[in-house]
Amino acid sequence: MRKAVFIKNMFDDIAGNYDLLNDVLSVGTHRLWKKMVVKKAMQNSPRRVLDCATGTGDLAFMIEKEGCSDITAIDFSDEMIHFAKLRAQKGKSNATFLKADITNLPFDSKSFDSTTVSFGVRNVEDLEKGLQELSRVSKSVHILEFGQPKNKIVSFIYFNLLKLYVPVFGIISGRKDCYEYLIASSESFPSGETFMELMKKNSDHKHFTFEPIFNGIAYLYSSHGA
Ligand SMILES: C[S@@+](CC[C@H](N)C(=O)[O-])C[C@H]1O[C@@H](n2cnc3c(N)ncnc32)[C@H](O)[C@@H]1O
Repeated sequence: MRKAVFIKNMFDDIAGNYDLLNDVLSVGTHRLWKKMVVKKAMQNSPRRVLDCATGTGDLAFMIEKEGCSDITAIDFSDEMIHFAKLRAQKGKSNATFLKADITNLPFDSKSFDSTTVSFGVRNVEDLEKGLQELSRVSKSVHILEFGQPKNKIVSFIYFNLLKLYVPVFGIISGRKDCYEYLIASSESFPSGETFMELMKKNSDHKHFTFEPIFNGIAYLYSSHGA
């Protein structure tokens, strides 16, 4: 099965439990990390913002709360978009949620001031094409993604802890493979310098930065053109 099909089916299946599992699995820390990417993306008071691989819309709602009124959010999972739209209705959000693939974005070049992706790029089958699309449609790009802690001892403890408790949630949710995938993909996904080089290779932006979060459990990458 192609990675994109596996990923889409997986997120369609877990969409209903995604928010709860996210909070429990990360012990709430994903919210703090998302605040960091939102702060970065809102630095120059962007007028139009795009959130890609939005899932159930966390970043879109946070960005709206920060005062941006023109937000578009996309995801290729029908179910994730369905739950994002439900949340938007309940919270009276004006964000627009669309089904779209990050590797083929239906937007004109540089039509957004700022684009965000949290915990999405790791799942994209054609990552290089995805990165090209992000910089094509936006003047600045901000990516939050898991990586590997820089300290080898921290890394060893962290991944072994994950292997102990994450599979329990796989059993509860009925999709053990999803949670095995979460660990395997976080352990092997290019991070830090390596990921930033990949961004540079696949972007028309000029400036690139990255910062490790919690010793490199996650990273925040940014690029802009001007
Ligand atoms: C781990 S979730 C992250 C959701 C949300 N950004 C968050 O931080 O809670 C990853 C999301 O990426 C989406 N995704 C994966 N590959 C995609 C692609 N090629 N195009 C659009 N969305 C994609 C999945 O459907 C899923 O909703």
